[in-house]
Amino acid sequence: MHENFDHIWNRKGTSCVKHDMMERDFGRNDLLPMWVADMDFAVPDCILDDLRRRLEHPILGYTFGGESYKEAVLQWLETRHAIRAMAEEIHYIPGIVAGIAFCLQALTREGEAVVVTTPIYPPFLNLPRHGHRELRCSPLRVRNGRFAIDFDDLEKRLQGARLLILSNPHNPGGTVWEADILRQIADLCDRHKITVISDEIHADLTLQGFHHTSYVTVSEKARNHSITFIAPSKTFNIAGLSSSVAYIPNPQLRKTFFDYIDGYELANGNIFAYIGAESAFRHGGPWLASLQKYLQENIDHAIEYLHRELPAVNVMRPEASFLLWMDFSALGLPHAELRRRFIHNAQVALNDGTAFGGTAYEGCFRMNVGCPRSLLDEGLQRIIRCLL
Ligand SMILES: Cc1ncc(COP(=O)(O)O)c(C=O)c1O
Repeated sequence: MHENFDHIWNRKGTSCVKHDMMERDFGRNDLLPMWVADMDFAVPDCILDDLRRRLEHPILGYTFGGESYKEAVLQWLETRHAIRAMAEEIHYIPGIVAGIAFCLQALTREGEAVVVTTPIYPPFLNLPRHGHRELRCSPLRVRNGRFAIDFDDLEKRLQGARLLILSNPHNPGGTVWEADILRQIADLCDRHKITVISDEIHADLTLQGFHHTSYVTVSEKARNHSITFIAPSKTFNIAGLSSSVAYIPNPQLRKTFFDYIDGYELANGNIFAYIGAESAFRHGGPWLASLQKYLQENIDHAIEYLHRELPAVNVMRPEASFLLWMDFSALGLPHAELRRRFIHNAQVALNDGTAFGGTAYEGCFRMNVGCPRSLLDEGLQRIIRCLL
C-alpha cells in the first residue's frame, strides 16, 4: 500500500483547485501546493472500479440514491460513528459547505446570529457574512498544545443566537473534541435554544490514540437540536464527486431542512456521487487503515523536522486529518513578509491563517501534509530555507 501513497501523480491540467487554481490566491501557478484540503493520493481501486463499471452503460440519465446507497451510509454511520439512523433520517447533500448554506437559509433569517469558534475553516465565516447573518466568533484558547473551548465566552455569544456551527474534529487545529466537551456544548445550546450543525467531515481520519465522538450521540439534548454532516470526500479523496450526507433525528428539524432542500430541488445528486460514496463506505475500510498510518507518519515526520530545524515555530499536533496549524509569530517577521517568503522564496502554497478568523491569526499558516513523503520533504525544506 505504501508504494501507492509514495507515488507522485501529476495533477496539473486536471482542473483541480489545489494545483490549477493557485494563480487566484497566490498570484502565480508554479508553487508546491500544500493548501486546499484534498490529498495527492490515488483514490481506492474499489471506487474507480465501480465508477468504471457504471460507465459501461452508455446512458447517464437522472439518478437517485437508491436503497443500496442508503444502506451503505447507514452501515457506515453505525459501525464507525455509533449512530443508529433510519433511512428517512438521512439525506444526500452535494457538499457540506452547501449543506451549511442550506441550513442558513432554511433555519435562520437575515440579521439573526450564527456562532462559530475561531480559528475556523473559512466558509464557516464567509457563508453567514454573505447571507447577512450576524457572525459571532468565540476564540478558541490553546491549552496543552491543543485547542480548547472558552465556555464562558461561548455562552455569552450564544445568547439570542440561532445556530452554532461546529467543526468536529476541528479544522484547522485537528482537535478531536471529547464527549464531555461536546456534552457541555449540548447543555449550553439546549439552554439557549440553539440548533447545532456538527460538521464531521474529518471524523473518519481520526488518528491513532484518539477517539472521535459524534456530537449527536452525546446526549438526548444533542440529538434533539443537531444536524450532523458526514462525507466520504476527505476520507477517500473524492471531494470532486460532491457527495455528502445530512443526518437529522429530530422529526421537526428534519422536516424543516429536508422540505427546504427538496422543495427547491437542491440535493438531487448525480450518478457518480452515489456510486463513489457507496463504494467507499462498503469497500474502502482497508485502504483507509493504510492511509491513516501513512498520514500519521507524515505528521510525525513534519513535526519532528520543523521542531528540529525551527524550534521557535509552534506546530499544533493534529489528532485527526492531514492539516498542520503552524504559528510562526515567534520568529518576529511581519505576516505579510512571511507570506511573501512562502510564495516567492519557498514557492510553497500554504493557507493564510488570517482567512481562519482575521488578524488574530497573523503569523499562522496551515499546511496540508496529505501528499507523498518526498513532496512533503521538499515543502518542509523550502519553508525552512526561506526563513533562515
Ligand atoms: C471542516 C470542513 N468542512 C467542510 C469542508 C468541505 O466540504 P465539502 O467539500 O463537502 O463542501 C472542508 C474542506 O476542507 C472542511 O475542512
